Amino acid sequence: MIYKACLFDLDGVLVDTAIYHFQAWKNLGKKFNYELTTEQNEQLKGVSRVESLNKILDWANYSATQEEKSNWLIEKNEEYLRLISNMNRSEILPGVEEFLNQIKNQGFKIALGSASKNAEIILDKTGLMPWFDLIIDGNTVSKSKPDPEVFLKGAEGLAMKPSECIVFEDAQAGVEAAKAGNMKAIGIGDRETLYLADKVIPNFIGIKANELLLF
Ligand code: BG6
Ligand code: MG
Repeated sequence: MIYKACLFDLDGVLVDTAIYHFQAWKNLGKKFNYELTTEQNEQLKGVSRVESLNKILDWANYSATQEEKSNWLIEKNEEYLRLISNMNRSEILPGVEEFLNQIKNQGFKIALGSASKNAEIILDKTGLMPWFDLIIDGNTVSKSKPDPEVFLKGAEGLAMKPSECIVFEDAQAGVEAAKAGNMKAIGIGDRETLYLADKVIPNFIGIKANELLLF
């Protein structure tokens, strides 16, 4: 097998935090009378906090001052942190722990490649932290997905070539980032949204790593 490392996105792949991000952005939108739709929310997946706000303001056609933007970024995150404050192991997506177990036993290195600045909090709350050899998150990268920086830093930190890495992503922007980094991409979700991925699975339930990771 030429693949030696698995790089996981966090939100929507390992834990179902996408609903909390959506709720927090929706509430924020009320400040400028904007109702965020689920279709638009799909385009915010994998996108950094600042860029998400810029996109929403763009859709709302609202030109905010720098001060408004700074305040809203803080308010959105405070709301998000409130929403995830009681998170625990039960919010790990089904099949994820079994899958991590399989790849660990098969000798894969495991890294996180997330845009979130709250990644470590979530890994701690859910008990997922011990699985990871390396964490690359929103505090480590300067460019948002679809730029491949987050995954290239993951490969480099694990001393792997991009061609030895497999990325797991639920976002269009994340799949694009993996492909731009010359890595295999496994989409978690539906094929219509994640058509650029090399393979797509709906979730990790019952997934056999030795079959999925054959390309
Ligand atoms: C990504 C999410 O993982 O992290 C996005 O898919 C989110 O929705 C981004 O905006 C940044 O997260 P945070 O926790 O730093 O606001
Ligand atoms: Mg995601």
